[in-house]
Amino acid sequence: MRVLVTGGAGYIGSHTVLQLLAAGHDVLIADDFSNAKPSVIDRLEELAGRPIKVHRIDLTDEAATAALFAAEDIDAVIHFAGFKAVGESVAKPLSYYQNNLDTTFSVLKAMDAHGVRRFVFSSSATVYGENPVLERTEDMPTYATSPYGWTKVMVEQVLRDLAVADDSWRIALLRYFNPVGAHASGRIGEDPSGLPNNLMPFVSQVAVGRRAKLAVFGDDYDTADGTGVRDYIHVEDLAAGHLAALEKIGEVDDALSVWNLGSGEPVSVLQVVTAFARASGRDIPYEVVPRRPGDVAAYWADPSKANRELGWRATRGIDDMCADTWRWQSQNPDGYPDA
Ligand code: WQD
Repeated sequence: MRVLVTGGAGYIGSHTVLQLLAAGHDVLIADDFSNAKPSVIDRLEELAGRPIKVHRIDLTDEAATAALFAAEDIDAVIHFAGFKAVGESVAKPLSYYQNNLDTTFSVLKAMDAHGVRRFVFSSSATVYGENPVLERTEDMPTYATSPYGWTKVMVEQVLRDLAVADDSWRIALLRYFNPVGAHASGRIGEDPSGLPNNLMPFVSQVAVGRRAKLAVFGDDYDTADGTGVRDYIHVEDLAAGHLAALEKIGEVDDALSVWNLGSGEPVSVLQVVTAFARASGRDIPYEVVPRRPGDVAAYWADPSKANRELGWRATRGIDDMCADTWRWQSQNPDGYPDA
C-alpha cells in the first residue's frame, strides 16, 4: 500500500516509516518539522537504502492538505502529526486544540474527498484519565486531565461519530502507553527539543553527561518502591503494532477498532534508573523531589485485545529499551545534526 505517514519525521513516526518500507509498503512523509530536524530524513534514507518522499506541510492548512491528496496516490494514512507535551498543553491550550484538531480535520476531509478510508490514529493511554483500575482495558471510559489529553479524547470521539455516519471507514485507535527505546542501529531515536519532559530521554541525557542529575518526582506513591509505575513499550514494538493494525483494519467489518499498545509490564522510575545504569555502565545521579502535578501513581496496559486480535505483542523488555536508547544517545550525544 502507499501509506501517508503524517508526523513521519517524529520519534514514533520515523521508526514506523522504516518498518512500513521493510514490509514492502510505499511511504510518503508529511511533516511541518516543528518538532523534528530534517536530518532525520537523511538517517531514514540511509537505513532504508532508498529515497523517501517528504512533503513539508502545515496540515492545519486544509487547502494544502487537499492539494497533497490530489497530487499523490494514497491508500492509507497513519496520523502521528500533533503536539504532544502535556505540560506545554496546559500553558498553551489554544495552540494544542487548534493544531491537534485542525490537522486531523484537514486529513480526514481530504481522505473523505478522495475515497481513502484506512486511518490509523496515534492515540494515548492518557485518555484513561485516573481510573482506579490500574490495568487499563479498551472498554474503560475516557476523559483527560490536560488539554493534550483532551485533544486525544476529542479526536477519538470525532472518529467514533465518523464511523457511525459512514461505515465505509476503517479506523484504528491505537492507545500508546510509554514509548521508549530506539532503532537497534543507533542511527534514529528520541531527540526531544530542550529539557526532556519524559523519564527515559532525561535519564539518557544524564548518562551521556548532558544533564547533571535526574529529579525523581516523588517516592511516596503507593507502589513497591514509592516511585511512579508505568508501562514502557519499545518504539520498535510500537511501530510493529501500527503495521499489524493497518493490515487488520483491511480485513475487519468494523468501521472503528480500539487497541492498547503496551507491554503489560509495570515498571517503576527507580527500576528504569537501575536498568539504565546497567545498560550504559554509567552512574545515574538522582534526587527525590516533590511529586509532579497531574502525575498518577501507577497504570499499565492490559494488551490482551491487541495480542489476540492483531497477533501482535511487545517482545522487548526494559533492558532492551535501555540498551537501545543508550546506543542511540551515546552515538548521538547532542541528538540529530542541525543541518
Ligand atoms: C514517567 C514516570 C514520572 C520525568 C507522558 C504523557 C503521556 C504520554 C507518555 C504522550 C512518572 C517520572 C518523569 C522525570 C520523573 N505522552 N518522571 N522524572 O507522565 O507517564 O506519560 O508521556 O502520549 O500522555 O502523560 O511519562 O516519562 O513523563 O513519566 O520522576 O524527569 O517518570 O513522575 O512516574 P508519563 P513520563
